[in-house]
Amino acid sequence: MSVHTMLEAVNLSKRYEDGALAVDDVSFSVRPGEIFAMLGGNGAGKTTTINIFLNFLEPTAGEARINGIAAHRAPLEAKRHVAFVSENVMLYPTFTAVQNLDYFARLGGKTQYTADDYRRVLLRVGLQEEAHHKKLKGFSKGMRQKCGIAIAILKDAPAILLDEPTSGLDPKSGFEFMQLLGSLRDEGKAVLMSTHDIFRAKETADTIGIMRQGRLVMQRSRAGLAGEDLERLYMEHMAGVHE
Ligand SMILES: Nc1ncnc2c1ncn2[C@@H]1O[C@H](COP(=O)(O)OP(=O)(O)OP(=O)(O)O)[C@@H](O)[C@H]1O
Ligand SMILES: [Mg+2]
Repeated sequence: MSVHTMLEAVNLSKRYEDGALAVDDVSFSVRPGEIFAMLGGNGAGKTTTINIFLNFLEPTAGEARINGIAAHRAPLEAKRHVAFVSENVMLYPTFTAVQNLDYFARLGGKTQYTADDYRRVLLRVGLQEEAHHKKLKGFSKGMRQKCGIAIAILKDAPAILLDEPTSGLDPKSGFEFMQLLGSLRDEGKAVLMSTHDIFRAKETADTIGIMRQGRLVMQRSRAGLAGEDLERLYMEHMAGVHE
């Protein structure tokens, strides 16, 4: 029996009002228990793709489906199945870490969490205990990112979207963040992320996509990348060698 698809781009295209074709007929799918990492240069269309899944943008053509639901047709229904961790996590600076978690959990309709649940999820994401009751405004980027992923975990959605989650994290935090994504994948989450970190992507992702000028020019599973030099492949795709 094949596992169903949780996130699916179907001939997805996006042309911005000023005429730029940011996403050009992109198709891929991410199943439960799979991490799909999008690589690609600045302006390749990664953020645009993610933003269509979140219904921050309407597609010009095609569909971004979450659990089979087209994001732009039934946005509220689609969003119930997905948690988003943004590059610049929008949290409340005057709330503590625990207060932010509690606020966003309740906003998402989760009222069952206890102080101990918040403590445990913050420890899971690696936020040291002495910071749990400190205000966010004194947090580093990595600490805020940890709160963002904690909120995503508490939402307990089957799909997780992340736009450059490890940018600006120190090497140890970046490593731990990818380990955490790996553990969420192992729990059956479908993860779609963008990143510029080729090495971490190769270590953790199950499928790598490379975007160039709006098109998905390469898509390979871990098995399909075995023995390949991903950095070399990336450079070749950037140079258009395979087109
Ligand atoms: N709001 C916008 N209006 C018009 N064009 C846009 C808008 N946002 C992005 N673009 C264009 O769409 C293309 C894709 O941008 P996008 O932000 O999706 O790239 P990206 O792959 O996320 O890049 P980066 O690695 O720099 O984050 C670029 O050519 C960009 O200039
Ligand atoms: Mg981007």
